[in-house]
Amino acid sequence: MSVLPINLSPHLESNLLLERLEQLGKLPADTDPGPLLELAHHPNPKVRTAAAKNLAKLENPTLLSFLVECALKENNTLARREFVAAIGRLRHPEAIPHLIAFSQDIDPKVVLQAIRGLLCFRQKAEVQDCLQQLRDHPNELIQKAVRAELDKKVGNVKQQQAVKTAAKTKSDHTRSPEWMHNVFVNADVLEVLRHVPDESVHLTFTSPPYYNARDYTIYRSYEEYLQFLVRVFTEVHRITKEGRFFVLNTSPVLVPRMSRQHSSTRYLIPFDIHPRIMQIGFDFIDDIIWVKPEPSAKNRNGGFYQHRKPLGYKANSIVEYVIVYRKHTSKLIDWNIHQYDEETVAASKIREDYEKTNLWRIAPTADPIHPAVFPLELATRIIELYSYRGDLVFDPFAGRGTVGMAALQLQRTYFLTEKDPQYAAYAKELLSTGNLFGGNAVRMMTLEEFVNVKRESMEKER
Ligand SMILES: C[S@@+](CC[C@H](N)C(=O)[O-])C[C@H]1O[C@@H](n2cnc3c(N)ncnc32)[C@H](O)[C@@H]1O
Repeated sequence: MSVLPINLSPHLESNLLLERLEQLGKLPADTDPGPLLELAHHPNPKVRTAAAKNLAKLENPTLLSFLVECALKENNTLARREFVAAIGRLRHPEAIPHLIAFSQDIDPKVVLQAIRGLLCFRQKAEVQDCLQQLRDHPNELIQKAVRAELDKKVGNVKQQQAVKTAAKTKSDHTRSPEWMHNVFVNADVLEVLRHVPDESVHLTFTSPPYYNARDYTIYRSYEEYLQFLVRVFTEVHRITKEGRFFVLNTSPVLVPRMSRQHSSTRYLIPFDIHPRIMQIGFDFIDDIIWVKPEPSAKNRNGGFYQHRKPLGYKANSIVEYVIVYRKHTSKLIDWNIHQYDEETVAASKIREDYEKTNLWRIAPTADPIHPAVFPLELATRIIELYSYRGDLVFDPFAGRGTVGMAALQLQRTYFLTEKDPQYAAYAKELLSTGNLFGGNAVRMMTLEEFVNVKRESMEKER
């Protein structure tokens, strides 16, 4: 039996013990567990947790009843989770009834550890029964893990068929309809999307109209505005390829007060739309805060600056939200990446320095014609980080076509919709003059022209 390489006497100071337990690294299976067993009863819960982690490394089945006893009497949440994880790591059939019992625990993380341990024995009937019982567990993470596992079985049945179509699917994931490449449709987005096929775009980046804050669109109520966005984003979900991204730039808006006798109203658009987007079938990935320089903010605290009376404070807003969503799938990001050939992956790598935090400092852009454009740099960062070369990038609320310009510069293609004819004409001008790649001239269309182009290209394919 090997002996632990350092002194782990329980009489040592807790911090020193913790430091030593963290440094232990890999342990041979025949390590004498004695000192660790003693530390599993240490008065400091952090030491007990670290001891459990190290006991787990031994994967020694003779420790089963000891670990079960520790897990049952442990009153510290973190330590309990570690003891249950250690039971799972034994990968021993005798652990199954204990893990099934822990799968009924009140702590979702204990349940997840128990499930993880049970999955080594997924073919056993009692484990399948246990998973079936957990299918409708109230905790969303448990539900997700269990359903992914149970649905895999159904997936296996379809696997043979999937293998046959795999080559096709693979190229389908990286491809997009050519008749949509570098197309700008000057029409209402919902009208256009009715004609766009399922799973045809790789990335959507957009900044929707800011509820009645500018004059280009008027909604009768905030609820009507949110419902409009839900309709558009439901379509975005449909036309997005499996596991690909939808990035949304919004910020709170202020509807000014009617008179001095009234107060103004602020709408927290990103937070109000978020649960609706989740319900459509997107997963939340990241919250990026776009920070603008202080002088670019509208001054809201002039009054407070004078009187300095609490309750009257109003912050000058210098941030917008850039929320990153992914179309729900059970597949990992690696699956998406593996759809591309090596050359495309190499050409799409981000080689220069990039922002490592979710705080992006970018100066806003003022445009002489459009009142609410986002900066080219913001679109460039998003497209570079969330798409590959040759991908199709969509913006349903294209304005002057900033997304199109960034997409072209990054050797992607774009598909844009914008209902205002003035902005569409302006975008056409910008996308043509800024076009470095001669062959990719913008194809500006009305809705009717778009429908015709689609029909003709479908006919050719037949
Ligand atoms: C915030 S701006 C987007 C500006 C754009 N990001 C840019 O950099 O130019 C929103 C745009 O959505 C357009 N829009 C509003 N409702 C629309 C609809 N139903 N269909 C298409 N475009 C619409 C507006 O005309 C406006 O140009």
